Amino acid sequence: MKPLLLQALYNEQIPRPPVWMMRQAGRYLHEYQAIKAKYGFLQMCKTPDLAFEISMQPVRIFDVDAAIVFADILLPAETMGFNISFKPGPFVENTIKDINDLNFLSTKVHNFSLKYLAETISMLKTELTKSATNPKAVIGFAGAPYTLACYLIEQGKWKHFHGTQVFANQQQSAFEKLMDVITAVTIDYLLLQIEAGADVVQLFDTWGGNLTLEDYRKLSLPYLQRIITEIKKKNCPIILYVNNSSHLNEILNDSGADCLSIDSRCNLEELMKNSEIALQGNFDPTHLFLSKEQVIAETTKMLTQTKNKNNYIANLGHGILVNTPRENVKAFVDTVLNFKR
Ligand code: CP3
Repeated sequence: MKPLLLQALYNEQIPRPPVWMMRQAGRYLHEYQAIKAKYGFLQMCKTPDLAFEISMQPVRIFDVDAAIVFADILLPAETMGFNISFKPGPFVENTIKDINDLNFLSTKVHNFSLKYLAETISMLKTELTKSATNPKAVIGFAGAPYTLACYLIEQGKWKHFHGTQVFANQQQSAFEKLMDVITAVTIDYLLLQIEAGADVVQLFDTWGGNLTLEDYRKLSLPYLQRIITEIKKKNCPIILYVNNSSHLNEILNDSGADCLSIDSRCNLEELMKNSEIALQGNFDPTHLFLSKEQVIAETTKMLTQTKNKNNYIANLGHGILVNTPRENVKAFVDTVLNFKR
């Protein structure tokens, strides 16, 4: 039996949508805080026993349909030669200022240095396929090249990564060279995760929505297309999340992704009318702070809107926020688990 998440991605007839949440493992869970009190973030990512445990927490607590591996979009930057740390947001020491800074970059994902990630995924795969009647999916992920570039070019001097947009248009060949390296590394990084057992992978373009439609077409989309083409050769479904993407949706279908993960500002109903592609989302993470009754009502509304779409995955429009009340997270998930089409 296939995990429900895969059944939805393959547009099979299923009784309810699968559900998981972006950033479902993290600081809003006291179980996560307990581990975090003892270890640094990178140490947690790089110790398979810990990363496995943290990835499993939301599965055990809420019974969501998938585990996303506990890792970060910055991890492959380390294999490229960047010095990264988390404070708790990513901090890159040796950011790129001009083309001369690119000489140190490596295009190779050193399998040995990412062995921890493969090991965590393979542990998750074993655990989540134990049940013959209700197997769950393992999700691997990477940052979209544009979003990763934002962290590698800037060091927090600009708000909202506008400096990356300036860099990309002012120093075109340096930008392209950096994006080529990131793209090559991201392909290897995702292939490593698929080989280890990831059932599906997601690309996070968190900052892509800053770009105009024209700039997105030039600065982000071609690199996504290269990655997606390679991943599809492995018959692994790929989900694309672009935050703040209302103005970009018309071209995101051209990415080749199997599923678009939609942010809360997008109109899910309108998007469903215009596209056959699988959709994921888009419950507003701030609405998880409303009353439990409101959470249930809003979730039910979202599920009713998407009732006739088998290739729909219930999720949030962006990552879960730090102080989110867990009883509301439970109400959101339970509403999906108990929904009948
Ligand atoms: O549960 C999961 O979703 C899996 C783990 C995961 C993390 N980061 C763990 C993490 C995933 C999928 C990510 C993706 C990620 N990382 C993105 C794309 C998704 C998005 O939210 O837009 C981005 C932009 C990053 C970069 C990053 N890493 C930021 C901005 C931060 C700080 C975030 C914050 O919450 O303050 C991190 C650190 C990070 N990555 C944490 C976690 C759980 C917090 C670390 C801590 O506990 O201190």
